[in-house]
Amino acid sequence: MADIAFLTNADFELYRNLIYNESGIHFTPTNRSILESRLKDRLRDKHIDARTYYNTISRDKEEMKSFLDSITTNLTRFFRNQAHFDALQHYVVPELMKVKKLTGNTTIKIWSAGCSTGEEPYTLAMLMSEILSPPWKYEILASDISLKCLMTAKEGFYADSRIAGVPSNYLIKYFDKVSGGYKIKSDLMSKVRFDYHNLKNDSGQRNLDIVFCRNVIIYFDEAAQTAVMKRFWDAMAQKSFLFIGHSESLFGMDTKFEFVKTQWATAYRKWS
Ligand SMILES: C[S@@+](CC[C@H](N)C(=O)[O-])C[C@H]1O[C@@H](n2cnc3c(N)ncnc32)[C@H](O)[C@@H]1O
Repeated sequence: MADIAFLTNADFELYRNLIYNESGIHFTPTNRSILESRLKDRLRDKHIDARTYYNTISRDKEEMKSFLDSITTNLTRFFRNQAHFDALQHYVVPELMKVKKLTGNTTIKIWSAGCSTGEEPYTLAMLMSEILSPPWKYEILASDISLKCLMTAKEGFYADSRIAGVPSNYLIKYFDKVSGGYKIKSDLMSKVRFDYHNLKNDSGQRNLDIVFCRNVIIYFDEAAQTAVMKRFWDAMAQKSFLFIGHSESLFGMDTKFEFVKTQWATAYRKWS
């Protein structure tokens, strides 16, 4: 339980404005205790007080990255919200194939934005490997603001407790059993490129066919969510699809994405 008096109101305002400006992550008085408990651990490790640490992260970019890493929520799992993957397989990929065929472009480009420890992009890679056959190919870019998560993701090792949800045939085909868990086979690993990226900035990506950004914008306020959606729009191909978390919505937001209701799950599309 966080100490109520841990941050003064003035310090809380300083931190929350800085975090928001740097990442879009929005701390409100309601979730102030989450920020306080994470910050408390960090200050204890560093033997430093809140105001001094604030001054440090304000001028030290690397320390700011580590700090942002420490306040993110990274919960994820393989095949999280299976309905999204069903919609991808049975609706989105066939629709994309129809339009891409006309241009002779047979590569499906996917971005897992806010990929945490890699379960989402590896799930996508397994699924796409199952669905596609030559000449169709896929590329997956996976990014996050958490360097710790990206290191785990790149290593591709998951303890036994974390592979629940992976169908047994996929486990055999795409993982090697190692002591204490499973490791993604190098073939599948080579299909996913991990990169540090803060969604506050333009990724420079263009012509993406599918974007997965699930359970990320829930931590942003509406202005930051709208800005991220605008950047996704610019990064996506003329005909492309966007998946957000099932508890997230673009309803009422100033965006050009169209809502798509499939038999399996809802998604959004750019269809220009
Ligand atoms: C709850 S996890 C979701 C992981 C995965 N997409 C899923 O649905 O299972 C949210 C992730 O978003 C990342 N994140 C939060 N703010 C971000 C930002 N501004 N830029 C990039 N990633 C961010 C966090 O580091 C965290 O790993």
